[in-house]
Amino acid sequence: MRDGFSREIEYLRFSITERCNFFCRYCRTRDVCACDTDAGELTKQDVFRIISAFKKLGIKKLRLTGGEPFLRNDVFDIIDFAYDLGIQNINVTTNGFLHDDCIQRIIESRLSGVNISLDTLDRQKYRELTGVDGFDVVVNAIQTLSRFKRVKLNAVLLKTINFDEVEDLILFAKDNNAVIRFIELMPIGVANRIFEREFVSTQDVLKRFKHFQRIEDREKSVAEYYYIKDFDSVVGFINAVSDHFCSRCNKVRVSAKGILYNCLFDEDGLDLKEHFGSEDVLAERIKQFVMKKKFERSATTNSMMFKIGG
Ligand code: GTP
Ligand code: 5AD
Ligand code: SF4
Repeated sequence: MRDGFSREIEYLRFSITERCNFFCRYCRTRDVCACDTDAGELTKQDVFRIISAFKKLGIKKLRLTGGEPFLRNDVFDIIDFAYDLGIQNINVTTNGFLHDDCIQRIIESRLSGVNISLDTLDRQKYRELTGVDGFDVVVNAIQTLSRFKRVKLNAVLLKTINFDEVEDLILFAKDNNAVIRFIELMPIGVANRIFEREFVSTQDVLKRFKHFQRIEDREKSVAEYYYIKDFDSVVGFINAVSDHFCSRCNKVRVSAKGILYNCLFDEDGLDLKEHFGSEDVLAERIKQFVMKKKFERSATTNSMMFKIGG
């Protein structure tokens, strides 16, 4: 499927739940989501319908996000369904607070990879940042999963919290067979409250290294990868603020309530539930809506990351 600027749209990011067991300070604070319910969440059948329509439209890559996608007990059915339809590149973005039975099911699943958030290696800071004393559980998940699946670590750069840990995080990833990507904090939702104090750019990080070299076209991703000679490591940077990467955008998003968004920064979406009557009609409506995808993103948004799925 192509949009109105001939960009090939082949990547669907599907937020399958708004629920989360974490309260990361840049994403989801208790005052914006006092209660965690599945009210309005798409049913499994609805999720299947949407994935089928996108598959018909040529989607090749699916990422399940949230909220915390593993809070849905049908997440493995969704993965199986998509894989059996022929989508072989299926990934999940998770906070990594996963217990052993879930880790085992991930290992046995047909997921290609797992992106896990890890912003700090300091237990106390981890608890303060996420609201959960979960550091050891998450580290166990990373260490176990990285032996079987491609694991990428996501660290949102935060000036007063982890800017002094960049080197340690790179070494942690290297020791655990994972690739780390540092993400520029985006002023979305509750992150607006801390943005001015905490924002650090990729350039601020790169300045600290003696020798580094950009690696071109490592994969179709929003991340730019560098070989950092100082650590003999490949490290990713997601320049979510200093770069907009719209010209090479290849994705659209669906929220847990079934709203299709052409961009992370869009507030107007298409309610897919209104077009569930026939799969052909659904696919046609999606195609028409994607044609309206803008070339550049809006400057700001009132969206919440845990609702639109990052
Ligand atoms: P892969 O490249 O397939 O590994 O996925 P990803 O890095 O896009 O997925 P992930 O869910 O791990 O997201 C990492 C960060 O990139 C999150 O902070 C996302 O919000 C951000 N991100 C992903 N796509 C976009 C985008 O199109 N625009 C912006 N501004 N940020 C994005
Ligand atoms: N800016 C940048 N990244 C964010 N994430 C959540 N909120 C923000 C934000 N305001 C990241 C999480 C997770 C991914 C899905 O999005 O850390 O890794
Ligand atoms: Fe939950 Fe992810 Fe948001 Fe943290 S960043 S609160 S883990 S949805």
